[in-house]
Amino acid sequence: MKCGLYGFIFIPIFGALFLLFPLFLACNGRRAFFLEDLVLAAPKGVFVNVDSEFDLDNIISTARIAGKKVNVLLRINPDVDPQVHPYVATGNKNSKFGIRNEKLQWFLDVVKAHPNELKLVGAHCHFGSTITKVGIFRDVAVLMANYIDEIRAQGFEISYLNIGGGLGIDYYHAGVVLPTPRDLIDTVRELVLSRDLNLIIEPGRSLIANTCCLVNQVTGVKTNGTKKICCD
Ligand SMILES: Cc1ncc(COP(=O)(O)O)c(C=O)c1O
Repeated sequence: MKCGLYGFIFIPIFGALFLLFPLFLACNGRRAFFLEDLVLAAPKGVFVNVDSEFDLDNIISTARIAGKKVNVLLRINPDVDPQVHPYVATGNKNSKFGIRNEKLQWFLDVVKAHPNELKLVGAHCHFGSTITKVGIFRDVAVLMANYIDEIRAQGFEISYLNIGGGLGIDYYHAGVVLPTPRDLIDTVRELVLSRDLNLIIEPGRSLIANTCCLVNQVTGVKTNGTKKICCD
């Protein structure tokens, strides 16, 4: 088992922590300064999740600048309902995250056409945060295993499944029993082993949520329409 870091905001993670976490580092596209960050990161073998067509373009450009292939995982939007608050659902069809699964072939063709820039190492999905029903991970893993079979059938030797979905949090300290990372792993273990895959999970904020508190100051309260708004 390896521990790694996942970053949206790349420069601080790269600068401050990469040397302490040389085992594994993953990041997502979609950022304005992504190109510069990735040029620094690519030679280190970082895993990059491809989230869109323009993301892939950026990654190809950076691979050329860095003179190094970039390890990529395709972030497939699985179109599932994680049964959480809509604001933290990340894998339904209308969500802004991931590539549309109908476009998978297009992405595979682009990867095939860029053997000097891209190395496809796996498939990724993230479908929500604060998930309380661990069985959903199994359902999504089945979907992802099918995509992986499809991708492998085209000759790609991919060996990673990154299945994201953050786990539930007992925010009110009510003693709620919630799935642990081990429960998540146990739910998908058999499927992952059957495909000889390395599993990456992203328990997300659940790892630290109950060790922190947010300190802030309300500077005023206003009313707009029927809404009362606390401004900070
Ligand atoms: C790929 C990915 N990983 C991690 C997270 C964060 O998860 P959490 O909110 O459970 O910390 C998100 C949130 O959108 C995400 O899209």
